[in-house]
Amino acid sequence: MALTAENAPSARLYAKVERAIPSIEWPIYAQDIDAIMTLKRRRNAVVLAHNYQTPEIFHCVADLVGDSLALAREAMNVDADVIVLAGVHFMAETAKLLNPEKTVLIPDPAAGCSLAESITPEDVRLLRQRYPGVPIVTYVNTSAAVKALSDICCTSGNARAVIESLGVDRVIMLPDEYLARNVAAETGVKIISWAGHCEVHERFGAEEVRELREAYPGVVILAHPECPPEVVAEADFSGSTAAMSAYVGSNRPARVVLLTECSMSDNVAVQYPDLEFIRPCNLCPHMKRITLRNIRGALETMGHEVTIDPAIAAPARRAVERMLAVK
Ligand code: 13P
Ligand code: SF4
Repeated sequence: MALTAENAPSARLYAKVERAIPSIEWPIYAQDIDAIMTLKRRRNAVVLAHNYQTPEIFHCVADLVGDSLALAREAMNVDADVIVLAGVHFMAETAKLLNPEKTVLIPDPAAGCSLAESITPEDVRLLRQRYPGVPIVTYVNTSAAVKALSDICCTSGNARAVIESLGVDRVIMLPDEYLARNVAAETGVKIISWAGHCEVHERFGAEEVRELREAYPGVVILAHPECPPEVVAEADFSGSTAAMSAYVGSNRPARVVLLTECSMSDNVAVQYPDLEFIRPCNLCPHMKRITLRNIRGALETMGHEVTIDPAIAAPARRAVERMLAVK
Protein backbone atom coordinates (compact mmCIF):
# COMPACT_ATOMS: atom_id res chain seq x y z
CA MET A 1 0.00 0.00 0.00
CA ALA A 2 1.40 3.42 -0.94
CA LEU A 3 1.99 5.84 1.92
CA THR A 4 -0.31 8.84 1.88
CA ALA A 5 -0.59 11.75 4.33
CA GLU A 6 -3.56 9.90 5.89
CA ASN A 7 -2.20 6.37 6.30
CA ALA A 8 1.46 7.21 7.05
CA PRO A 9 2.66 6.32 10.60
CA SER A 10 3.39 10.00 11.25
CA ALA A 11 -0.29 10.91 10.73
CA ARG A 12 -1.33 9.46 14.09
CA LEU A 13 1.81 10.62 15.95
CA TYR A 14 1.40 14.37 15.87
CA ALA A 15 -1.35 14.32 18.50
CA LYS A 16 1.21 12.81 20.89
CA VAL A 17 3.74 15.63 20.55
CA GLU A 18 1.65 18.66 19.58
CA ARG A 19 2.43 20.41 22.88
CA ALA A 20 6.17 20.19 22.15
CA ILE A 21 6.39 20.65 18.36
CA PRO A 22 4.80 23.58 16.47
CA SER A 23 2.53 22.39 13.63
CA ILE A 24 4.54 24.39 11.09
CA GLU A 25 7.61 22.22 11.79
CA TRP A 26 5.79 18.89 11.68
CA PRO A 27 5.75 18.18 7.89
CA ILE A 28 9.58 18.16 7.85
CA TYR A 29 9.73 15.69 10.73
CA ALA A 30 6.89 13.58 9.32
CA GLN A 31 8.87 12.68 6.18
CA ASP A 32 11.82 11.41 8.21
CA ILE A 33 9.59 9.57 10.69
CA ASP A 34 7.82 7.67 7.90
CA ALA A 35 11.14 6.81 6.25
CA ILE A 36 12.59 5.61 9.59
CA MET A 37 9.56 3.37 10.26
CA THR A 38 9.98 1.70 6.85
CA LEU A 39 13.75 1.35 7.27
CA LYS A 40 13.41 -0.17 10.75
CA ARG A 41 11.27 -2.95 9.31
CA ARG A 42 13.58 -3.49 6.34
CA ARG A 43 16.73 -3.68 8.50
CA ASN A 44 15.07 -5.49 11.45
CA ALA A 45 16.30 -2.58 13.57
CA VAL A 46 15.24 -0.91 16.80
CA VAL A 47 15.93 2.62 18.01
CA LEU A 48 17.00 2.99 21.66
CA ALA A 49 16.71 6.60 22.81
CA HIS A 50 18.02 8.32 25.92
CA ASN A 51 15.71 10.59 27.94
CA TYR A 52 17.59 13.65 26.58
CA GLN A 53 16.60 13.04 22.98
CA THR A 54 14.22 15.55 21.42
CA PRO A 55 10.46 14.77 21.48
CA GLU A 56 10.23 13.85 17.77
CA ILE A 57 12.86 11.14 18.41
CA PHE A 58 11.81 10.16 21.93
CA HIS A 59 8.06 9.95 21.31
CA CYS A 60 7.89 9.19 17.59
CA VAL A 61 10.62 6.76 16.44
CA ALA A 62 12.13 5.22 19.60
CA ASP A 63 11.24 1.61 20.40
CA LEU A 64 12.78 1.81 23.87
CA VAL A 65 13.55 4.89 25.96
CA GLY A 66 15.19 5.39 29.34
CA ASP A 67 18.18 6.39 31.42
CA SER A 68 21.65 4.92 30.93
CA LEU A 69 20.86 1.96 33.18
CA ALA A 70 17.60 1.09 31.40
CA LEU A 71 19.24 1.41 27.99
CA ALA A 72 22.06 -0.93 29.07
CA ARG A 73 19.56 -3.49 30.42
CA GLU A 74 17.14 -3.21 27.51
CA ALA A 75 19.93 -3.50 24.95
CA MET A 76 20.36 -7.12 26.07
CA ASN A 77 16.69 -8.03 25.54
CA VAL A 78 16.38 -6.56 22.09
CA ASP A 79 15.14 -8.98 19.44
CA ALA A 80 16.60 -7.30 16.34
CA ASP A 81 19.68 -7.47 14.15
CA VAL A 82 20.46 -3.77 14.37
CA ILE A 83 20.40 -1.31 17.29
CA VAL A 84 20.44 2.41 16.48
CA LEU A 85 21.51 4.23 19.63
CA ALA A 86 19.97 7.69 19.80
CA GLY A 87 22.25 9.01 22.52
CA VAL A 88 25.95 9.62 23.00
CA HIS A 89 28.92 7.44 22.07
CA PHE A 90 29.50 5.77 25.45
CA MET A 91 25.87 4.57 25.39
CA ALA A 92 26.36 3.01 21.96
CA GLU A 93 29.58 1.35 23.16
CA THR A 94 27.74 -0.10 26.17
CA ALA A 95 25.03 -1.48 23.87
CA LYS A 96 27.75 -3.07 21.72
CA LEU A 97 29.54 -4.54 24.74
CA LEU A 98 26.32 -6.28 25.77
CA ASN A 99 25.36 -7.29 22.22
CA PRO A 100 28.61 -8.25 20.49
CA GLU A 101 26.76 -10.19 17.78
CA LYS A 102 24.45 -7.30 16.83
CA THR A 103 25.18 -4.34 14.61
CA VAL A 104 25.13 -1.17 16.74
CA LEU A 105 24.92 2.14 14.90
CA ILE A 106 25.38 5.68 16.22
CA PRO A 107 23.92 8.35 13.92
CA ASP A 108 26.77 10.78 14.71
CA PRO A 109 30.00 9.31 16.11
CA ALA A 110 31.07 12.77 17.34
CA ALA A 111 28.30 12.69 19.98
CA GLY A 112 30.66 12.60 22.95
CA CYS A 113 30.44 13.52 26.64
CA SER A 114 32.55 15.87 28.77
CA LEU A 115 32.76 13.21 31.49
CA ALA A 116 33.98 10.49 29.11
CA GLU A 117 36.55 12.98 27.77
CA SER A 118 37.85 13.83 31.24
CA ILE A 119 39.71 10.57 31.89
CA THR A 120 42.06 8.27 29.97
CA PRO A 121 43.13 4.65 30.52
CA GLU A 122 46.56 5.95 31.60
CA ASP A 123 44.90 8.00 34.37
CA VAL A 124 43.17 4.86 35.65
CA ARG A 125 46.43 2.87 35.62
CA LEU A 126 48.12 5.58 37.68
CA LEU A 127 45.27 5.60 40.21
CA ARG A 128 45.56 1.81 40.56
CA GLN A 129 49.25 2.19 41.34
CA ARG A 130 48.63 4.98 43.81
CA TYR A 131 45.80 3.21 45.69
CA PRO A 132 46.62 -0.52 45.49
CA GLY A 133 43.73 -2.78 46.51
CA VAL A 134 41.08 -0.01 46.42
CA PRO A 135 38.21 -1.02 44.07
CA ILE A 136 37.64 1.22 41.05
CA VAL A 137 34.01 2.05 40.24
CA THR A 138 33.61 3.67 36.85
CA TYR A 139 30.57 5.66 35.79
CA VAL A 140 29.14 4.37 32.50
CA ASN A 141 29.88 7.83 31.05
CA THR A 142 33.37 6.65 30.07
CA SER A 143 35.05 4.98 27.10
CA ALA A 144 35.17 1.18 26.86
CA ALA A 145 38.96 1.45 27.34
CA VAL A 146 38.45 3.11 30.75
CA LYS A 147 35.70 0.63 31.72
CA ALA A 148 38.10 -2.20 30.86
CA LEU A 149 40.48 -1.08 33.63
CA SER A 150 37.82 -0.78 36.31
CA ASP A 151 36.35 -3.36 38.68
CA ILE A 152 32.71 -2.47 38.18
CA CYS A 153 30.61 0.19 36.46
CA CYS A 154 27.73 2.25 37.82
CA THR A 155 25.12 4.69 36.55
CA SER A 156 23.45 7.56 38.35
CA GLY A 157 20.54 5.16 38.95
CA ASN A 158 22.51 2.50 40.84
CA ALA A 159 25.71 4.22 42.08
CA ARG A 160 24.82 3.86 45.75
CA ALA A 161 23.79 0.19 45.41
CA VAL A 162 26.96 -0.62 43.43
CA ILE A 163 29.23 1.00 46.01
CA GLU A 164 27.45 -0.63 48.93
CA SER A 165 27.58 -4.02 47.17
CA LEU A 166 31.38 -3.96 47.39
CA GLY A 167 31.35 -4.12 51.19
CA VAL A 168 34.47 -1.96 51.60
CA ASP A 169 35.06 1.32 53.41
CA ARG A 170 36.95 3.05 50.57
CA VAL A 171 36.45 3.13 46.78
CA ILE A 172 37.75 5.10 43.83
CA MET A 173 34.83 6.49 41.83
CA LEU A 174 35.53 7.91 38.36
CA PRO A 175 35.26 10.37 36.71
CA ASP A 176 32.38 12.55 38.00
CA GLU A 177 33.46 14.50 41.06
CA TYR A 178 29.95 15.72 41.86
CA LEU A 179 28.27 12.34 41.49
CA ALA A 180 30.99 10.91 43.76
CA ARG A 181 30.41 13.58 46.40
CA ASN A 182 26.63 13.22 46.16
CA VAL A 183 26.87 9.44 46.61
CA ALA A 184 29.41 9.80 49.43
CA ALA A 185 26.84 11.94 51.28
CA GLU A 186 24.38 9.00 51.11
CA THR A 187 26.75 6.19 52.13
CA GLY A 188 29.31 5.73 54.87
CA VAL A 189 31.92 4.84 52.26
CA LYS A 190 34.95 7.09 51.69
CA ILE A 191 35.13 7.98 48.01
CA ILE A 192 38.29 9.00 46.16
CA SER A 193 37.06 10.98 43.17
CA TRP A 194 38.33 12.52 39.93
CA ALA A 195 37.91 16.10 38.72
CA GLY A 196 35.55 15.30 35.80
CA HIS A 197 32.32 17.26 35.42
CA CYS A 198 29.28 17.19 33.20
CA GLU A 199 29.37 20.43 31.20
CA VAL A 200 25.56 20.58 31.34
CA HIS A 201 24.91 19.97 35.04
CA GLU A 202 27.91 21.88 36.44
CA ARG A 203 26.26 25.10 35.24
CA PHE A 204 23.42 24.87 37.80
CA GLY A 205 24.04 26.72 41.08
CA ALA A 206 22.49 26.81 44.57
CA GLU A 207 21.61 30.50 44.15
CA GLU A 208 19.54 29.58 41.09
CA VAL A 209 17.59 27.03 43.15
CA ARG A 210 16.79 29.68 45.79
CA GLU A 211 15.72 32.15 43.09
CA LEU A 212 13.41 29.54 41.56
CA ARG A 213 11.71 28.96 44.92
CA GLU A 214 11.12 32.68 45.30
CA ALA A 215 9.91 33.25 41.74
CA TYR A 216 7.65 30.14 41.60
CA PRO A 217 6.02 29.55 45.00
CA GLY A 218 5.37 25.89 45.77
CA VAL A 219 7.66 24.63 43.00
CA VAL A 220 9.11 21.14 43.48
CA ILE A 221 12.77 21.00 42.42
CA LEU A 222 14.36 17.81 41.10
CA ALA A 223 18.10 17.68 40.35
CA HIS A 224 20.25 15.14 38.54
CA PRO A 225 23.13 13.84 40.74
CA GLU A 226 25.68 15.20 38.23
CA CYS A 227 24.74 18.66 39.61
CA PRO A 228 27.08 20.22 42.21
CA PRO A 229 26.37 18.92 45.76
CA GLU A 230 25.12 22.34 46.94
CA VAL A 231 22.42 22.18 44.23
CA VAL A 232 21.41 18.65 45.22
CA ALA A 233 21.30 19.76 48.88
CA GLU A 234 18.83 22.56 48.02
CA ALA A 235 16.64 20.35 45.79
CA ASP A 236 13.60 18.35 46.92
CA PHE A 237 14.72 15.17 45.17
CA SER A 238 17.76 13.92 43.29
CA GLY A 239 17.90 10.93 40.98
CA SER A 240 18.74 9.63 37.54
CA THR A 241 16.74 10.86 34.57
CA ALA A 242 14.44 7.81 34.93
CA ALA A 243 14.05 8.42 38.67
CA MET A 244 13.10 12.08 38.05
CA SER A 245 10.52 11.03 35.49
CA ALA A 246 9.11 8.39 37.88
CA TYR A 247 8.97 10.99 40.69
CA VAL A 248 6.85 13.29 38.53
CA GLY A 249 4.56 10.37 37.60
CA SER A 250 3.95 9.25 41.16
CA ASN A 251 3.93 12.60 43.00
CA ARG A 252 2.24 14.74 40.31
CA PRO A 253 3.69 18.06 41.61
CA ALA A 254 1.47 20.88 40.25
CA ARG A 255 4.58 22.94 39.49
CA VAL A 256 7.94 21.32 38.90
CA VAL A 257 11.50 22.03 37.74
CA LEU A 258 13.92 19.39 36.43
CA LEU A 259 17.49 20.65 36.83
CA THR A 260 18.95 18.75 33.92
CA GLU A 261 19.11 18.71 30.11
CA CYS A 262 16.38 20.63 28.25
CA SER A 263 14.72 17.83 26.28
CA MET A 264 14.03 15.89 29.45
CA SER A 265 11.36 18.37 30.57
CA ASP A 266 9.91 18.53 27.05
CA ASN A 267 9.51 14.74 27.01
CA VAL A 268 8.05 14.45 30.50
CA ALA A 269 5.73 17.44 29.92
CA VAL A 270 4.26 15.63 26.88
CA GLN A 271 3.24 12.81 29.25
CA TYR A 272 1.77 15.07 31.96
CA PRO A 273 -0.05 17.95 30.26
CA ASP A 274 -1.82 18.90 33.52
CA LEU A 275 1.45 19.83 35.31
CA GLU A 276 3.35 23.12 35.01
CA PHE A 277 7.01 22.65 34.04
CA ILE A 278 9.37 25.57 34.72
CA ARG A 279 12.34 25.12 32.38
CA PRO A 280 15.68 26.67 33.42
CA CYS A 281 17.40 23.88 31.52
CA ASN A 282 20.85 23.51 29.92
CA LEU A 283 21.43 21.95 26.50
CA CYS A 284 23.77 19.00 25.96
CA PRO A 285 25.44 19.77 22.61
CA HIS A 286 26.47 16.12 22.26
CA MET A 287 22.97 14.71 22.69
CA LYS A 288 21.72 17.34 20.25
CA ARG A 289 23.96 15.95 17.50
CA ILE A 290 21.42 13.16 17.07
CA THR A 291 18.54 14.14 14.78
CA LEU A 292 15.76 12.39 12.89
CA ARG A 293 17.71 13.12 9.72
CA ASN A 294 20.87 11.31 10.83
CA ILE A 295 18.91 8.41 12.37
CA ARG A 296 17.35 7.99 8.93
CA GLY A 297 20.81 8.28 7.34
CA ALA A 298 22.23 5.62 9.71
CA LEU A 299 19.50 3.17 8.69
CA GLU A 300 19.90 3.98 4.99
CA THR A 301 23.68 3.53 4.88
CA MET A 302 24.22 1.27 7.96
CA GLY A 303 26.70 3.83 9.29
CA HIS A 304 28.31 4.58 11.72
CA GLU A 305 28.94 1.14 13.12
CA VAL A 306 30.37 0.92 16.65
CA THR A 307 33.26 -1.51 17.00
CA ILE A 308 35.39 -2.26 20.06
CA ASP A 309 38.82 -3.92 20.14
CA PRO A 310 38.16 -7.45 21.54
CA ALA A 311 41.05 -7.07 24.03
CA ILE A 312 39.21 -4.07 25.53
CA ALA A 313 35.70 -5.41 25.04
CA ALA A 314 36.12 -8.52 27.24
CA PRO A 315 37.19 -6.74 30.48
CA ALA A 316 34.87 -3.77 29.80
CA ARG A 317 31.91 -6.16 29.38
CA ARG A 318 32.81 -7.84 32.68
CA ALA A 319 32.66 -4.47 34.50
CA VAL A 320 29.24 -3.66 32.95
CA GLU A 321 27.84 -7.15 33.60
CA ARG A 322 29.03 -7.02 37.20
CA MET A 323 27.08 -3.77 37.57
CA LEU A 324 23.94 -5.31 36.03
CA ALA A 325 24.14 -8.18 38.53
CA VAL A 326 23.77 -5.71 41.45
CA LYS A 327 20.12 -5.59 42.47
P1 13P B 1 21.10 9.03 33.34
O1 13P B 1 21.76 7.72 33.49
O2 13P B 1 20.51 9.55 34.62
O3 13P B 1 20.08 9.00 32.25
O4 13P B 1 22.19 10.12 32.97
C1 13P B 1 22.95 10.07 31.82
C2 13P B 1 23.56 11.34 31.51
O5 13P B 1 24.35 11.46 30.62
C3 13P B 1 23.20 12.45 32.36
O6 13P B 1 23.83 13.59 31.96
FE1 SF4 C 1 27.71 13.82 29.12
FE2 SF4 C 1 26.57 15.75 30.53
FE3 SF4 C 1 25.85 15.39 28.01
FE4 SF4 C 1 25.14 13.59 29.89
S1 SF4 C 1 24.47 15.71 29.72
S2 SF4 C 1 25.99 13.14 27.87
S3 SF4 C 1 26.93 13.66 31.21
S4 SF4 C 1 27.88 16.03 28.73
